Amino acid sequence: MSAQTNGTIAVFGATGRQGGAVVDALLDREARVRALVRDPRSDRAQALAARGVELAAVRADDPASLAAALTAVAGFSFMTPEANSLEEVEAEIRIGTALVDAAVEAGVPHTVFNSVFGADRETGVPHHDSKHWIEERLRGSGLRATMVRASAFMENFATVMAPTLEQGRIVLRLPLPEDVALKMISIRDIGRIAAALLLGTAEAPGGAVELVGDELTGPRIAAAFGARAGLPARYEALPLSVLPSDLDRAMFRQFAEATENPSDIAVVRAIEPATLDLAGWIRATGWTAPTT
Ligand SMILES: NC(=O)c1ccc[n+]([C@@H]2O[C@H](COP(=O)([O-])OP(=O)(O)OC[C@H]3O[C@@H](n4cnc5c(N)ncnc54)[C@H](OP(=O)(O)O)[C@@H]3O)[C@@H](O)[C@H]2O)c1
Repeated sequence: MSAQTNGTIAVFGATGRQGGAVVDALLDREARVRALVRDPRSDRAQALAARGVELAAVRADDPASLAAALTAVAGFSFMTPEANSLEEVEAEIRIGTALVDAAVEAGVPHTVFNSVFGADRETGVPHHDSKHWIEERLRGSGLRATMVRASAFMENFATVMAPTLEQGRIVLRLPLPEDVALKMISIRDIGRIAAALLLGTAEAPGGAVELVGDELTGPRIAAAFGARAGLPARYEALPLSVLPSDLDRAMFRQFAEATENPSDIAVVRAIEPATLDLAGWIRATGWTAPTT
């Protein structure tokens, strides 16, 4: 166990989206950051180094490399990689478990896990239950730990959930009934909230915070994009069968059931007052209507 820390915050996943946002927020607050990366020579790792981030080469299947990279840090932020199959879910659990065990070995004073909304319980969604099990491991580890449980990323509206432009209308299609409100958060705010918790400028009541910046039904999401584009908007609910994987079908089924789980946006804003709602995210990202 390390008795003393050097004030550095370690980040696993720093070359990715959530970890990258944690790094951005930590650097904005002038914290010292160490990124745990697979390949320090990669362009993304080198871009971090150019911003003053220390690089530590790790392998998730090499516990000694992980524990060494966590030596003397003041805090540790980690996420687990996306899983699109049951094999990848197993790999996700292995990586998360290895990271928790390494944090124990290194005696990390505060660990923040980028988990997922609802991971306080089993939901039957394989790539959410994986995070539930990692949370359980973390809770049972004796470490001081905080779970930041992200709802759907608003950034999905720039990629896999992007609205289209059809005959002068903004059209949004999702496999979600039109009366179900989707909980969502921007990746920027996940990073800001994790950083505030790691730097001790905020606390999560009960050691966990469900990250929701907005909660809107499909028609209201479409309307938000339409308002920005100055165009009429339409929502179309699709069947779950349009989704390519069993995992995603389970997840969207769970989104529809999760309406009974209330979200507390006030708790999120108490940590990060500038947390974006969808309209704010649309403005902040400079989203413009697609051309076709
Ligand atoms: N999409 C959503 O709406 C949503 C909502 C809530 C939660 N989530 C969860 O968010 C997670 C994905 O987060 P993200 O989008 O930030 O991921 P991402 O951008 O794909 O980044 C993945 C990071 O993990 C690293 N990595 C991957 N496999 C690794 C391994 N075997 N060993 C070491 N490092 C490894 C990558 O590093 P390299 O540079 O080495 O590749 C990269 O830094 C998933 O668990 C997903 O379930 C997603």
